[in-house]
Amino acid sequence: MPVNQSQLTSMFEDVLKMSKVDHTQSVAVLKSHYSNQAIVQAATDAAIRLGAQVYGVELPAFHAPMSMGNDLTAYCGDTALTGNLAAQRALEAADLIVDTMMLLHSPEQEQILKTGTRILLAVEPPEVLARIMPTQADKLMVKSAEEVLKAARSIQVTSAAGTNFRAALGQYPAVTEYGLADEPGRWDHWPSGFLFSWPNEETAEGIIVIDKGDILLPFKNYCRETITLEIEKGFITNIHGGLEAEYLAEYLKYFGDPEVYGISHIGWGLQTRAQWTAMGLHDKNDGMCMDARAFAGNFLFSTGPNTEVGGSRKTPAHMDIPLRNCTITLDNELTVVEQGKVVAPAASIGPVPRIGD
Ligand SMILES: [Fe+2]
Repeated sequence: MPVNQSQLTSMFEDVLKMSKVDHTQSVAVLKSHYSNQAIVQAATDAAIRLGAQVYGVELPAFHAPMSMGNDLTAYCGDTALTGNLAAQRALEAADLIVDTMMLLHSPEQEQILKTGTRILLAVEPPEVLARIMPTQADKLMVKSAEEVLKAARSIQVTSAAGTNFRAALGQYPAVTEYGLADEPGRWDHWPSGFLFSWPNEETAEGIIVIDKGDILLPFKNYCRETITLEIEKGFITNIHGGLEAEYLAEYLKYFGDPEVYGISHIGWGLQTRAQWTAMGLHDKNDGMCMDARAFAGNFLFSTGPNTEVGGSRKTPAHMDIPLRNCTITLDNELTVVEQGKVVAPAASIGPVPRIGD
């Protein structure tokens, strides 16, 4: 259902307030011609209502010749900000940037964050923003799971479909997404509600079976048949199954880069207002389908780069693949997700949404 402009502005006011925007702060709204104008306007008006100093930074779109499709997550690497030092300085001058364009996975974004500037990405359709409004309760939920992920030195994932995957942890930090850019240098994405880390180099191994109904992003399809991935020393070494396996293999092969087969971030979803079914109700170009990444009890694994946490794998292709019905265990002893249901820590189990909430 559509969200009216007044409601969208009020939503931004709440989220910016929870992201510590007030009259002492400067807010930059980063946009391009493809930004959702309703979101740009709402972010701007909300920051004005909060008394902040507000300005826009508009950049021409950047197109990588090898990229395919419109999904903003499908191609990592250079962005519209690459080489545009004047624009970068203008953004670094802000206390908070509302990114309606998407700088994710860029070195320029990392440099901006290092100056203490906060970034809140908001590129999903307004009705998704409305359904998954960030809350302080979400933050506590995700932070409680972060404690156990930070302490873990290994992760094991199994499923009845045949997944049997493990990796050592600890080389890279745990990253949380709860939808609020409320600390200096913090990047976050509204909507969210999940967490992840990266396997230690060369330790991810085993079998991942992408089952019927699991989701491949950025393809934005529900699998109709199983795809089996064999993983050795941190890389996918074999992809087999039927047509859908062939499609995935051909897509990755296109990039001509062995690093696209690396295992990237791995973690699990906690957001009970995010829905596995939501993707089926949207057109492919509506957004990037954060529902699929965040829904409670998923095992979200991914392929490709690890540069955003200081790794050396810089590769353009990135797949996010949320699996259902997995059991996720840390250090062979703490099961956090059992057959697709969040079971621990207790504070990370979100409320079941009800009509009228
Ligand atoms: Fe990802």
